[in-house]
Amino acid sequence: MTRIHAAITGVGGYVPDYVLTNKELETMVDTSDEWITTRTGIKERRILKGEGLGTSYMGIKAVKELLAKTSTDPGDIDLIICATVTPDMMFPATANIIADGVGASNSFGFDISAACSGFIYALTTGAKFIESGQCRRVIVVGGDKMSSIINYQDRTTCIIFGDGCGAVLLEPATENVGIMDSMHQSDGSGVQYLNMKAGGSRMPASHESVDARLHYIYQEGAAVFKFAVINMADICAKIMEKNHVTGNDIAWLVPHQANKRIIDATASRIGITDEKIMMNIASYGNTTAGTIPLLLWDFEKQIKKGDKLILAAFGGGFTWGAVYIIWAYDAR
Ligand SMILES: CC(C)(COP(=O)(O)OP(=O)(O)OC[C@H]1O[C@@H](n2cnc3c(N)ncnc32)[C@H](O)[C@@H]1OP(=O)(O)O)[C@@H](O)C(=O)NCCC(=O)NCCS
Repeated sequence: MTRIHAAITGVGGYVPDYVLTNKELETMVDTSDEWITTRTGIKERRILKGEGLGTSYMGIKAVKELLAKTSTDPGDIDLIICATVTPDMMFPATANIIADGVGASNSFGFDISAACSGFIYALTTGAKFIESGQCRRVIVVGGDKMSSIINYQDRTTCIIFGDGCGAVLLEPATENVGIMDSMHQSDGSGVQYLNMKAGGSRMPASHESVDARLHYIYQEGAAVFKFAVINMADICAKIMEKNHVTGNDIAWLVPHQANKRIIDATASRIGITDEKIMMNIASYGNTTAGTIPLLLWDFEKQIKKGDKLILAAFGGGFTWGAVYIIWAYDAR
């Protein structure tokens, strides 16, 4: 029997208009364009301004574009999964708000919380619903309004993150294209290095938690860097070995955009040269669950049917993983 693969058959995206440059950050915290550029590769990031706009606002824009590009009727969507750590509300799921906003009235939906690895976790989950035959059209959204949980007095985190959202459509493919394999890992002992302490059940919001600025990202950058640089490269090497592909066979590395130095180290470990690395960190910074679908959105026209891609991510949890894809279409 032919195995059914889940193939990405379209990509949509949305980034807000407001551009927060390194120069503007220089006026907010003790930093410099030179430090940010050399230590991270980031030049600017997008910020969602406007009262009452959350992650679903960007998700709805991205999904509407995706539906239009792929001529898909929203009523034909079976499932929407949204990867995010900045949901509109603690509940209900942002996926449901997006479904309502785009008119996907026959779908069910849920969110996945895996920080910067969220999109690839959600992609694997969505693929399983297609491979099992339970769903025929799944939308996977990855996005975050990181500006809602950033302390703009903390120079070690506010320079890194930005807002944005991407979305892909998954459909069954009987040809040998689509999501061929995926590997994921997590290590909960990483909670101490990257977290948001308040607002959950352990420390509900209070005057004290707000005064102590505990509703913002806390990151021990150097510890996270060390863990990321080893594990993102390792899992890429493992999935490539398992699928008998080398750096020469891979057309594109699609790496989570956290830090250019982590990406360069991963690429060099798996033998991928610079021109085959998708990068947009300079323009958007780290949009958490948004980085990988936004890369696919930015580079869609350059990807050819049959191209072999490795998607790789690392993030809070710790979580990490890699997905091996044979691309299913030439851009319209
Ligand atoms: C956050 C990160 C960019 C910091 O870079 P780094 O080279 O590790 O820098 P360090 O934290 O060691 O700090 C080095 C110095 O720069 C200073 N510094 C930190 N942020 C600064 C900023 N924005 N501007 C200027 N100086 C800064 C530090 O205070 C420190 O000064 P000191 O030596 O006088 O103490 C880097 O650690 C990183 O990218 N970590 C991983 C992030 C990640 O992948 N997260 C995963 C979730 S997406």
